[in-house]
Amino acid sequence: MRVGILGGGQLGRMLALAGYPLGHTFRFFDPSPEAGAGEVGELVNGSYDEEEALKRFADGLDVITYEFENVPVEAARLLEQYAPVHPNPAALEAAQDRLVEKRYFRTLNIPTAQFRDVDSRADLDAAVEALWLPAVLKTRREGYDGKGQRVLREPSDLDAAWSDLGDKALILEQFVRFDRELSIVATRSTGGDFRYYPLVENTHVDGILSRTVAPAPDVSERQQRAAEGYAHRIQTALDYAGTLAVELFEVDGLLMANEMAPRVHNSGHWSIEGAETSQFENHIRAVTGQPLGSTGLRGQATMLNLIGTTPDPADMLKVDASHLHLYSKAPRPGRKLGHITVRSDHLERLETSVAALEALISGTEE
Ligand SMILES: Nc1ncnc2c1ncn2[C@@H]1O[C@H](COP(=O)(O)OP(=O)(O)O)[C@@H](O)[C@H]1O
Ligand SMILES: [Mg+2]
Repeated sequence: MRVGILGGGQLGRMLALAGYPLGHTFRFFDPSPEAGAGEVGELVNGSYDEEEALKRFADGLDVITYEFENVPVEAARLLEQYAPVHPNPAALEAAQDRLVEKRYFRTLNIPTAQFRDVDSRADLDAAVEALWLPAVLKTRREGYDGKGQRVLREPSDLDAAWSDLGDKALILEQFVRFDRELSIVATRSTGGDFRYYPLVENTHVDGILSRTVAPAPDVSERQQRAAEGYAHRIQTALDYAGTLAVELFEVDGLLMANEMAPRVHNSGHWSIEGAETSQFENHIRAVTGQPLGSTGLRGQATMLNLIGTTPDPADMLKVDASHLHLYSKAPRPGRKLGHITVRSDHLERLETSVAALEALISGTEE
């Protein structure tokens, strides 16, 4: 099939790389002529409000999907005139606004931190009064990698946070003292079939994902089932075809939803080597109407993100059992430039390699 992908970043690139063996071809839409996916498929440049450019992109495509959640909903809906768009653009609406998203979780009986809508300084004071400190003030839209957020620890933090973020629509969330962060990645087919990946454990540094361990250690069956239930409810309610990720906080054994991503997710990159079928391949299978593949584990895997700078590739490849993925992006502080996954059937071998890679990575950070 001819598959169109909205967004030409690393996720689009990895979707195409997973889809070529299945016989598909790929075209990307991105405002930037530099978009890294342009190296692995045709790239159409344009802005999301340019109907003409969207039409050019859609011409001859059999199905359209997206690799980032800030695709304007109007653009996705317009494209539905030309080819099926999966996942359902309703998923964009639910995921683009943190307030809508948290309310949506609540309607599906998925636990979240307490939250309040903040549209004015008076709202902020009232929200702090209700939720107490510490709390996290976030922009409702367009935040990623920890951007657009301020942790409020004392009343004196409010003024600075308000002057930084107060010109945008905001949400105040209770600060969750989580034991750890987990996520679940799930794929649903157009026919309503589900595949779940095991819960993984994520470590963030400065709000950016740094490491994923798959499977997460010490997960109970009850926790795995609870997380699958959250994904199941979301994907069913949205009549969703494709891969979805739900980020979770574990608190005293319970799982609270933090946010969802209606797309393949960084915490699923390990699955390229660590699962029978990767999150990317399953996404492509889902949106093209093909049967889903097994999410069974192949040993254990740890994924490390390469952020801002990358060690010498040769040094990383020397490390036993390592698999390097570079995204062809110019280095910039805080930017995800690639990732490296260690996969092994032996925990000791895996831990030795991960330690070696972490030493290389920390050696390149200024
Ligand atoms: N309410 C909260 N309580 C505690 N930590 C939080 C809270 N919200 C976010 N964080 C921390 O900040 C990280 C990034 O926040 P998140 O809401 O996931 O935004 P982003 O879209 O930037 O990933 C989370 O993974 C978590 O480590
Ligand atoms: Mg997040």
